[in-house]
Amino acid sequence: MKLLEIEDLSVSVLTEGGYVDIISGLSFSIRKGEIYGLCGESGCGKTVTALSILRLLGSNFHIKGSIFFSGANLLSIPEKEMRQIRGGEISIVFQEPMTSLNPVLKIGEQIGEMLEVQLKLKKKEVKDRVIELLKEVGFEDPERRYHQYPHQLSGGQRQRVLISMAIALNPKLIICDEPTTALDVASEWEILNLLLKLVKQRNMAMIFITHNLHIVERLCTRVGIMYLGRLIEEQKKDIFFERPLHPYSQGLLSSALIRGDELKPIKGTVPDLRNIPSGCKFHPRCDYVMDVCIKEEPKFVKTDNEGYVRCFLYGT
Ligand SMILES: Nc1ncnc2c1ncn2[C@@H]1O[C@H](COP(=O)(O)OP(=O)(O)O)[C@@H](O)[C@H]1O
Ligand code: SF4
Ligand SMILES: [Mg+2]
Repeated sequence: MKLLEIEDLSVSVLTEGGYVDIISGLSFSIRKGEIYGLCGESGCGKTVTALSILRLLGSNFHIKGSIFFSGANLLSIPEKEMRQIRGGEISIVFQEPMTSLNPVLKIGEQIGEMLEVQLKLKKKEVKDRVIELLKEVGFEDPERRYHQYPHQLSGGQRQRVLISMAIALNPKLIICDEPTTALDVASEWEILNLLLKLVKQRNMAMIFITHNLHIVERLCTRVGIMYLGRLIEEQKKDIFFERPLHPYSQGLLSSALIRGDELKPIKGTVPDLRNIPSGCKFHPRCDYVMDVCIKEEPKFVKTDNEGYVRCFLYGT
């Protein structure tokens, strides 16, 4: 059963030079229990996608399309209902834990505040729940942590606190936006293992946003590759890593994997959004470019194995 279904999402932002398209015709869906890796280079629109789902974009953004969650279109429900869903049924963990925490409030109080407001629990019940949550995210000394301030914790520990807040209201879907990018490698894998454990135990679905294909391989069940605000390939994880179809996916994989001692980066750079290429948006960087690729944009078409690809090498 589909939990979240994004259909033909387009997002533009009003700048001094007029509207600039950030996301164009984005469609994908998440099923219960699934871990969807949304992957792409910096600036391709991953965070804007996450913020669109939670309706957290400012008034200078224009959004079109639909985002169905448990049957309701999140883009058209009243703000009051959206507030219930945000943090309740869908929660988000951002990249930089320090900026998401209040520096002058104790950890326990911050988690508790959320429970008090949303669940209307008594003080003692709140504290018990907070201690349970701190244990669940791997703190062996939850009582001590309860009374600490954010600056007394390491980056990895702060991210654990944010994860405890994200799971506190039993969400059905958790969106993680590069939650480990600011951490060292050891803490990174601890946090990823924790997320994996929580998703399984609590039967949540997860959208994991990252530019790191190694993480996708370790964590995800399906992968969607974004380029300039579009999905260009979507596959089950194993199929993608065995045989990526899109030339951009192939490039990303060969730049992620060091084969022998040869590292092969994708040629060129991601174009500016104010100056998007004609036709296939990847054509200036593609080794297989044909005439049609410059004139027309390929559609996102079904492949064997229930995947999708946007490239003329595989049809229209
Ligand atoms: N408030 C904004 N004003 C103008 N452009 C923006 C704004 N927010 C994001 N963008 C642009 O939208 C694009 C996608 O951004 P983002 O979703 O943050 O990328 P990613 O998360 O994949 O790195 C970027 O080119 C970024 O510069
Ligand atoms: S459509 Fe053409 S330019 Fe675009 S990725 Fe495919 S072959 Fe390359
Ligand atoms: Mg981002």
